[in-house]
Amino acid sequence: MQPWKIKLDKNDQRSFFLYADSSRMTSEVDPESRQMMVTQGTFLDDMEVAGKEIGYQTKISLFPDGGYNERDIANSMDIKPVAKITIEKTSPRHYPLYNALYLPDTNRAPYKDDKLTAAQISRLDSISEDPDLSVKVYQDKSDVERLGKLALEGAKIESGVNRVMEEANKIFRANEYQKKKYRDGFSVEGQGTSGIMRHLLQGLVTAFPSLNSGKAASDLFIKSTRTSVDHTPAYVMISTKDNSRVRQVKSGMLYSRLVLTAHDLGLAVQPLSQVLEEYPEMRAPPLCKIHHDYAPDGSTIQMLFRIGKPTKAFPLSMRRDVMDLIVNE
Ligand SMILES: Cc1cc2nc3c(=O)[nH]c(=O)nc-3n(C[C@H](O)[C@H](O)[C@H](O)COP(=O)(O)O)c2cc1C
Repeated sequence: MQPWKIKLDKNDQRSFFLYADSSRMTSEVDPESRQMMVTQGTFLDDMEVAGKEIGYQTKISLFPDGGYNERDIANSMDIKPVAKITIEKTSPRHYPLYNALYLPDTNRAPYKDDKLTAAQISRLDSISEDPDLSVKVYQDKSDVERLGKLALEGAKIESGVNRVMEEANKIFRANEYQKKKYRDGFSVEGQGTSGIMRHLLQGLVTAFPSLNSGKAASDLFIKSTRTSVDHTPAYVMISTKDNSRVRQVKSGMLYSRLVLTAHDLGLAVQPLSQVLEEYPEMRAPPLCKIHHDYAPDGSTIQMLFRIGKPTKAFPLSMRRDVMDLIVNE
């Protein structure tokens, strides 16, 4: 949903504030707004990487006006910034990860069987410098099977919860008109369709919306998750010691850096977030089970994603215009 708002600092032209856009919350799928906070982190890290390339050092201070009131979260998002960003002019220098900013983050296609090399794992492992934020790569057969099973169970549960599926369906952009109008949400590109097939499929789902909603959407979702987990050589997990808003945002920054690094290593990634979602139907077995098995010390799994060598490139998806993020209040 690209739920970001930028407010310029009237008192300092080197500074601006990032706010979470409460009008873009997805409360069914993300009832605790955890993924909303992770998403704020992805913005911050991409901005830092772009800054390095074009010659600006960024200083990021999280929740400069204090934390949210958890009992009034939407209102808190409107009045309290997630971050204050201050930029300092330096000299531009090519930053290798910058090029990866322009690649699609997520590749939902099957991956090759090849395991990650020790050098690849060590590069991914070395990204987090914060001891309270851990990155772990799982590629033993037993873990890959167990995590795949949990991810599939999450997808099956999600596909049976109507209100969550409807929330996703509302942000499905069926054709070029809707994609240009909203520039966010999901589209057939996100399912890996490009070229002439994209136009055919868009025509079909525009004429027959039922092809991409209700039972058809649920079946497609389960089928594609099964294909994904059956063609995944490894998973990565980001966990945090506590589940504070600051750690959630930092997890997003770390996730973004991992994605860019993975691309730089020629690897593709796809989060499989369903099993980590906090709505009641998911909370019961899978969310508790994955924490029981993989976070027994009481830490929180913030992101779970598959990783591997891609079998095909994925098309670009929509992005909002940067000027639409800037609000004057
Ligand atoms: C917190 C978070 C959770 C996500 N969960 C999923 C997921 O469960 N499945 C999926 O395919 N993509 C997931 N994504 C990826 C986004 O759908 C999408 O890839 C991202 O917005 C960038 O778009 P792009 O991949 O087209 O570049 C997630 C991203 C974030 C930040």
